[in-house]
Amino acid sequence: MSLKSKLVLAITSLVFLVTVVLSLVYVNELLQSVVTQSYDTNVLVARQIRYALQLALENGLKDQQVDPNDQAKLRQLAAAAVRDNSGLTAVVSSVNRYSPTVYDISISDNRGKALLTTGTTGDDNPIPLRPNYQRLRDSNAVELVKIVFGTPSVYDVVLPLERNGESFATVHIGVRTTLLRALYEPELKAALTLMSLALATSLIVAFLLGNLALRPMEELSMQLDYWTATAEETPTEEVETDTVVRVSNKIERIGQRMRNVEEVFSALKENLDQVLGNLQDGILLFTGDGRAVLVSNAVKRFLHQDRNVLLGQHAREIFDRSTVLGKTVRDAWDAGMTLVQEEIVTESGNRIEVSLDFIHDDRASDEGGSGEGLGALLTLHDQESVEVIENELELSRRMAAIGRLTSGVGHEVKNPINAIVVHLELLKTKLGNSSAPANGHLAVIDSEIHRLDRVVQTLVDFSRPVEVKLIEYDLRHVVADVVTLAAAEMSTRQVILTSVLPDYPLIAKVDIDLLKQAVLNVVQNGAQAMPEGGKLEVMLLDEGKSAIIQVRDEGWGISEDLREKIFDLYFTTKKGGSGIGLAMTYRILQLHHGSIDVQSELGRGSVFQLRIPLSATDRGRRHPQPAVIGTTKGLEG
Ligand SMILES: Nc1ncnc2c1ncn2[C@@H]1O[C@H](COP(=O)(O)OP(=O)(O)O)[C@@H](O)[C@H]1O
Ligand SMILES: [Mg+2]
Repeated sequence: MSLKSKLVLAITSLVFLVTVVLSLVYVNELLQSVVTQSYDTNVLVARQIRYALQLALENGLKDQQVDPNDQAKLRQLAAAAVRDNSGLTAVVSSVNRYSPTVYDISISDNRGKALLTTGTTGDDNPIPLRPNYQRLRDSNAVELVKIVFGTPSVYDVVLPLERNGESFATVHIGVRTTLLRALYEPELKAALTLMSLALATSLIVAFLLGNLALRPMEELSMQLDYWTATAEETPTEEVETDTVVRVSNKIERIGQRMRNVEEVFSALKENLDQVLGNLQDGILLFTGDGRAVLVSNAVKRFLHQDRNVLLGQHAREIFDRSTVLGKTVRDAWDAGMTLVQEEIVTESGNRIEVSLDFIHDDRASDEGGSGEGLGALLTLHDQESVEVIENELELSRRMAAIGRLTSGVGHEVKNPINAIVVHLELLKTKLGNSSAPANGHLAVIDSEIHRLDRVVQTLVDFSRPVEVKLIEYDLRHVVADVVTLAAAEMSTRQVILTSVLPDYPLIAKVDIDLLKQAVLNVVQNGAQAMPEGGKLEVMLLDEGKSAIIQVRDEGWGISEDLREKIFDLYFTTKKGGSGIGLAMTYRILQLHHGSIDVQSELGRGSVFQLRIPLSATDRGRRHPQPAVIGTTKGLEG
């Protein structure tokens, strides 16, 4: 059932209920009053008759000599007096004829026999026994209705006449219920008519009220239609006729759409933030009234102000004419002129390309309007840094080319070495044990050839392109694993290895095995630099955009002129050293877009710092988490 029909039904039944209750009360009152009224009239009539009866008896018995003990004679005289009195009979018959409720009138003697009657029983016969009218007056509403509308019966209004202190005769006025009903019915009809009229009115009023109450809902529905129509090309067919259900459906649909839009929006925003965060160019987006709503991180490099400070500021507040950049932008802004890659040189000598675009609403201008300004986009492009990046790119391109070359050369060299080794073996067997002096030379050639072979093999291995498998990983695990890997070797050297890790994860995109190898190389070097033992400390530090793995030893240190060379392949100062460790570490950090640097003091020790960029997405959501590594201490602890 629709809300409207429910509303109409509720109002109607309420009005109906009220009408019925009121009508019942009214009808009952009416009935009671009819009963009481007819009683009052009939008692009055009975009194009148009794008075007439008294006069008749006094007149009739006035001149008669009667023995008071002769009852029969007395009754006969009384009956004659009553029946012969014209006044009494006239009163009785006129009342019987004209009173609307009187059925019959009887005057009985003290034994219940009729002295005079208008009923069918006839004189001197016992008058019929009837319930007293008083019963009607005492009954409640329901009984009264039953009596009046039930089988017709007669109730008597009784008035006794006493003589010398005892009952001598009784006046009976019979009131028939049908006569009562006839009196009552027209009034009842009027009441019923009124009731049905009230009902009909209430129905109409309820209908109008229902419509009136639901009209705002219709308007709401239309409003919602407008919204859904603009957002959706093909509105789904409306089958529901109930306004309320329709409205709630529409609200539900709009809510769903808003949630979708919100999701898309937040995804877009995240993407945009990421893109802006990684962008080298400074980007500022202004609204129609000139306020900055979007500022990329790189803007700080150009304007030396944090993006949070710039957000919401007016273009005129951001750019004043005190700097070259500010003046250029401000002049263009005030003139409403676009800038296309305008190159300027700042006070500090940086070359910047400035572009300013005013965004207009094309639709508005198509329709003949002036094309209202939607905003402006300012881009700042740092020529220098682009050149630096280009140089780096060029460098790595050249490195790759050299790598290809060395591995090619390596392979070319390995073949002749193999041939030499084979022929050397042949030579050895041919010479046999006969010439001892030559054997000494052969042994030298043999060992040198093998050394050459190792060197070439290393070169080939090292310059082979590495396949890097980058995954997001907590750097604390890398450090912890290296510490456990190295622990055994450390204890044989009396080196005490400690590590300090933050109590929250530092996530970076790394190749886990390669990075472990890189850290392990540095840790091993540190231990090797302390032949007498000492303290070796590994620390993981959070530097905002990147993490630093710091390895500090108390070894012999590195002299300044060696510091340049230690990262070269094959450079070593150790007796059995290979000179590969730091070169490999350097390469691995390059692959991670990281860097390595060293500080050292001869005789006191060295500090190696490995810098690894952190994942951009992780930076914003760092929060304390229990470290899963058991043997380490927290930064504060
Ligand atoms: N912690 C250190 N303290 C002193 N010297 C070091 C340290 N780490 C590296 N070096 C120097 O750098 C050289 C190159 O190291 P590396 O590339 O690991 O080769 P290797 O360990 O085989 O010598 C070492 O021979 C040593 O002279
Ligand atoms: Mg080493």
